[in-house]
Order: sequence, then structure tokens, then C-alpha cells
Amino acid sequence: MFKKLNILDEKDPMLRKKSIPATFPLSKEDKNLIQGAIDELTYSQIEEYAEKYHLRPGMGLAFPQLGKNKRIIVIVYEVEEGIFDNYVFINPKIISNSEEMVAAEAGEGCLSVNREVEGHVPRYARVTVEGFDEDGNKIRCRAREDLAIAFQHEIDHLDGILFYDRIDPNKPFFTEMEMRLI
Ligand code: NI
Repeated sequence: MFKKLNILDEKDPMLRKKSIPATFPLSKEDKNLIQGAIDELTYSQIEEYAEKYHLRPGMGLAFPQLGKNKRIIVIVYEVEEGIFDNYVFINPKIISNSEEMVAAEAGEGCLSVNREVEGHVPRYARVTVEGFDEDGNKIRCRAREDLAIAFQHEIDHLDGILFYDRIDPNKPFFTEMEMRLI
């Protein structure tokens, strides 16, 4: 049976803490939380389930949002309609990035931020992320465009950073000339 996660709101001080590296083997509780995040993010992107369970669509969650300050992120990325790739990264690190920056044209959202925040968040267009899978094996992913944004957004959570911290209050929007908007 599907049980909804308890996702902390942006006002919770947990979201501003720097998370600590996870150690292996992962606890049963952590593994359950990872699976819970995969399930909820997947359902949230399928209209029928999103309505049924009252889920706001989201593609990523980081452990601090679930009340645990461990460096674990989960991304569920819809590659084509109804087909999802799951990325579970333990202790993720961006080991290289493109010079080019992009921003999501419509702005970013976050399952912990229950309000509309306008503005462009500058992100690397491409990143290579290294980390570990649930069994402690080293893994690496080269991500681009919206998947690259998702990785950067989730890894920021592990450092207590929320997406709107990166919006320049003096210049919240870029033009197409200044930044590639995707
Ligand atoms: Ni978020």
C-alpha cells in the first residue's frame, strides 16, 4: 500500500543544516525511505495517481526534506511518457561542470516550498556527478539540461541551500541573450 511521505516545509530548520555523509551498509530505515521517495516521485508524475493521492508533481527529493540530515538524494526522471529513470546517489559530488550556464525558464519548484517563487536560477548546463549506490558501489552520471538542474538542486539541499537562495534579488530574471533558458 502506498503511504505518503512526510515532507518538511521550507520553514523547518532541518532544511538549513549541512547534511553528513552516509555510511554503509545503509540502515533498513534509510533503504525504506529511498524506496518511499522513488514511489512518491513516480506517482507524483503520473496524473492519475497524483490526483488520487493529492501529490504535487516533483522529480527529486533529498534526505533533509524527509527529516534526515544524511547525504542521500533521489531523482525520478521521466525520459518519455510513463517511462522513468531512477537516480539514487549516496554522498553525491559534482566532479566536473560545463562552463555554460542555463536556467529553467519557468523557474524551479521544490516539494518543500509550498508557494510560487519567481525567478531564474542559474545552473551548470552539464555536470558529472559521482557518488555511491545503495550497496556502496561507486557510481557516476553525466547529466545535462533539466536532469543536470535536478542534480544541482538536490545536492544543494544537502548543504542547506534552497533554490531561491540562488535567485539574485536585484536581477531575478535573465533574457535569452544573457542566459540559455530551458
Ligand atoms: Ni527541493
